Amino acid sequence: MDVRADSLIDWATTDELKNALQDIEKPVLMIGGGSNLLFMGDFKGTVLHSTISTIEIIGSTDDHVHVKVGAGVIWDDFVAWCTVNGFWGVENLSAIPGEVGASAVQNIGAYGVEAKDVIDTVQTICLADGTERDFSNSECNYAYRQSIFKNELKGQYAVAYVIYTLSKVPQPKLGYGALEQEVTRLGGPTLANIRQAVIAIRESKLPDPKVLGNAGSFFMNPVISELEFNIIRSNYPDVPSYAAPGGVKVPAGWLIEKTGWKGRSLGPAAVYEKQALVLVNKGGATGADVKRLADTIIADVKQKFGITLSTEVNYI
Ligand code: EPU
Repeated sequence: MDVRADSLIDWATTDELKNALQDIEKPVLMIGGGSNLLFMGDFKGTVLHSTISTIEIIGSTDDHVHVKVGAGVIWDDFVAWCTVNGFWGVENLSAIPGEVGASAVQNIGAYGVEAKDVIDTVQTICLADGTERDFSNSECNYAYRQSIFKNELKGQYAVAYVIYTLSKVPQPKLGYGALEQEVTRLGGPTLANIRQAVIAIRESKLPDPKVLGNAGSFFMNPVISELEFNIIRSNYPDVPSYAAPGGVKVPAGWLIEKTGWKGRSLGPAAVYEKQALVLVNKGGATGADVKRLADTIIADVKQKFGITLSTEVNYI
C-alpha cells in the first residue's frame, strides 16, 4: 500500500523512545515490519518503530538458554541465529515476515508452533508515561493470534525486548501436514533441515510480500462448535479440521475456496491462486479495495456456511 504518515520515529534505545514520547504528535501507532497491517489511508499522526537489533544470551542451564532479543530484530534473522547456535523452539516459525516486537503482539504461529510457546517475558514501555513494564508469558493472555497487546491494552505499550526460553536439547515438532515428509527427504530432523523444509513449504504456498503485496493469512481460522461442524461435514465429508480449545478449527482457506473465490479478483485486489487465505495487491490497490474484497468474502462464507470469518490483519 502506498500510504504516508505525518511522521515516523525510529527508536534505537528505550531512552530514545522515552524522550520522543515527551513531545509527540498524536495519535501514535507502534509498528514492526508492518506485515500484518492494512492502512485504510494516510496516517495522521506519528508512527513509532523500534530499531533495537541486539540478540543477547542472558542465562543458561544444561538444557535451556534464555535469550533477550530487541524488538527491531527481523524475526527470521533471529530464527536463523537460533538454527546456527543449536537452540530449539522457533525453527518451525522460519521465514515469517516481520520483526520480533510485533511477533510477540500478534503471537505469530505456523506448523504447530506459536511464539507464545517460547516467550518468557515481554519488556515494554508505556506510551502514556514512558515507564517500563515487564509482562510474564501468562500476563500476555496469549491465544491463537491474540495477546493482551492486541486487545485490553491495544496501542498502550511498545515492545522493547522479548526474552525467549529455548531448548539446547533437540525437540523437533513435525506433526503438521507435510513437514515430516519434507524433513525426512532432506535427511532427518536437524534444526537446519527443519528450517529448510518449512521455508520450502511456505514458498510453495505463500507469495513473497516483496514481489506480490500481501499480509500472509488475511483471516483467522474459525473455531466452530461440534454441532456446526457436523452440519458442514454432512454436506462436505472431506472438510479438513483440527481439534481446538472450545470446538473444531476449520481452515478458512478451505471455506473461501468452496465459495469459489480462490484465484479471483475484485478490482486490483485478489485471492491468491495457491492459498485462498491470502489476499494480494495485484498493483495499485488501496486499503478500501482490499477491504471490499475481504468484506465480500466474509459475506459469502457467512451465507454458505453460517460462519463469520475474523481478520488476522489489523486495519489502521
Ligand atoms: N485449504 C484449502 N484451500 C486453500 C488453502 C487451504 O482447502 O486455498 C485447506 C487445506 O485442506 C489445507 C488446510 O486448509 O490442508 C490448511 O492449509 P495450510 O496448511 O496452508 O494452513 P492454513 O490453515 O491456511 C495456517 C496459518 C498460517 C501458517 C499455516 C501453517 C492461520 C490464519 N494461518 O494457515 O499462518 O503458515 O497454518 O501452520 O492460522 C499467517 O498467519 O499469516 C500464516 C501464513
